[in-house]
Amino acid sequence: MTTHATRIGTPGPRPDFPGPWAVAESIRYERSARRRGRLPAGWTNYSTRRTLRMRRDPLGLLLDGYARFGPIFGIRVMHDYSAIMLGPEANHFVLVSGRDNFVWRHGRFGDLLTLLGDGLLTTDGDYHDAGRAIMLPAFHRDRIVAATELMGEEASAAVDSLPGGGTVDLFSWQRALAMRIAMRGLFGLDPDGAHAADLVDAFERGLRFHEREFPLQVLIGPGTPWAKLKRARADLERLLGAEIRRRRNSETAGEDILGSLLQSADQDGRILSDRQVLDHVLTLLFAGHDTTTSTVTFLVYELTRRPEWQRLLQAELDSVCGERPPSAEELSGSLPLLTQAIDETLRLYPPAWIGPRRAVCDFEFGGRFVPAGVSVAYSSWASHRLPDVFEAPDAFRPERFEPSERANWPRGAYVPFGQGPRVCIGKRFGYTEVHAVAAALLQRYDLELEPGYQMQIRQMPTLSPKHGLPIRLRRRGRGLQATA
Ligand code: HEM
Repeated sequence: MTTHATRIGTPGPRPDFPGPWAVAESIRYERSARRRGRLPAGWTNYSTRRTLRMRRDPLGLLLDGYARFGPIFGIRVMHDYSAIMLGPEANHFVLVSGRDNFVWRHGRFGDLLTLLGDGLLTTDGDYHDAGRAIMLPAFHRDRIVAATELMGEEASAAVDSLPGGGTVDLFSWQRALAMRIAMRGLFGLDPDGAHAADLVDAFERGLRFHEREFPLQVLIGPGTPWAKLKRARADLERLLGAEIRRRRNSETAGEDILGSLLQSADQDGRILSDRQVLDHVLTLLFAGHDTTTSTVTFLVYELTRRPEWQRLLQAELDSVCGERPPSAEELSGSLPLLTQAIDETLRLYPPAWIGPRRAVCDFEFGGRFVPAGVSVAYSSWASHRLPDVFEAPDAFRPERFEPSERANWPRGAYVPFGQGPRVCIGKRFGYTEVHAVAAALLQRYDLELEPGYQMQIRQMPTLSPKHGLPIRLRRRGRGLQATA
């Protein structure tokens, strides 16, 4: 393996205590922005009611803001002022045409620094671009084709383990499955082995910090969520560090994404250091795990509400691949109805629903001046529900993804994976995983929602059903008999 190439430079340390530090930082940024000019108008005073609504019903609040103020408006939640930008033009501006006005690290993604370090979600500029260039081959089509097999195997085994005829929490089931796929696809680890179990445990402990209420996040000292987060990160460094060193010292780096990152170099021969590889794979695990879980879960939820679509997808699967798992080729082109249903799910429930940034230049959008320093966010969730862009925006209608209809949408209208140079690097991996799992479920089962269930959505860190998703399973007359 290459060991003598140059390592890419580092973005440098940054204070990373998300609680009080984040409050102080946002106040400082807002002050400096105000000195440059007036912030975009909107709901700019402090309001406890609004702060609570943002936690309870962020979608409703953002849509109300759009109806009242238009595609750009200010909103204060607790101490924090942000300019919200919604709609196709706003998305295109933030993600593509005006992207140089923004950084990610000093937006809300900065809160993830302690857990994730300097991965793609928390870095900008040359450092980010060099890392991304080195990582791209790991997400090349051939690599995804190789991963498809393991996704199909894991999905079939997980579907086999379901109680035929009982009720399951589909959210927890899919979450465990996504973690198994990540352990194998990202790290090449046996998901039933002790190493993977320790890694999953440390990662889940780290994530828990971000689910805590803000007042708990600001505590420091032994036993606090902050101390537990630091401990989880130290455990992740130890566990993943050992695996990285083992791979560096062995003859072959491995066929998984970690192996690919260890072997890759950019065109100038630069490679990633062990620490950089660690931060990047942790970021991939974070960005890829709950997003796929959420997409499968909401797809199943919507299919139980439109059973005619469930039947259509089953018929499509029966005719394309019968009882065997779909091949990589079939998953990427021969199941158009399944793809439409997944695309529509991602429109209604884009898991990464908000894209936080920090403006680094003064700019103008929609006739409003935005001074450098302001926290800015686009929201795919709210943009995908705008009645002036999508007819019947709250309805699950996969039909709208027929190519002839889709061609009429303005650019920037549909952005579940972001867009532009920083579009989701794991899009193909995640998309394939969702197809593979949905196919395995639908081939084997008819799915019904537990009577009386009411969907409530939690939005942090990604969209998910707050109380899981209880699904009644009825084995279909025909089903997969073997995974080969
Ligand atoms: C259905 C599944 C997924 C969805 C909906 C999704 C969505 C997104 C979105 C919206 C962004 C851009 C965020 C922004 O503009 O602020 C993003 C970025 C990213 N995603 Fe995904 N993602 C998915 C799966 C994955 C998977 C499976 C991986 C890794 C294996 C992954 C890794 C990443 C990374 C590393 C970035 C940052 C890219 C960069 O800044 O260069 N995602 N994702």
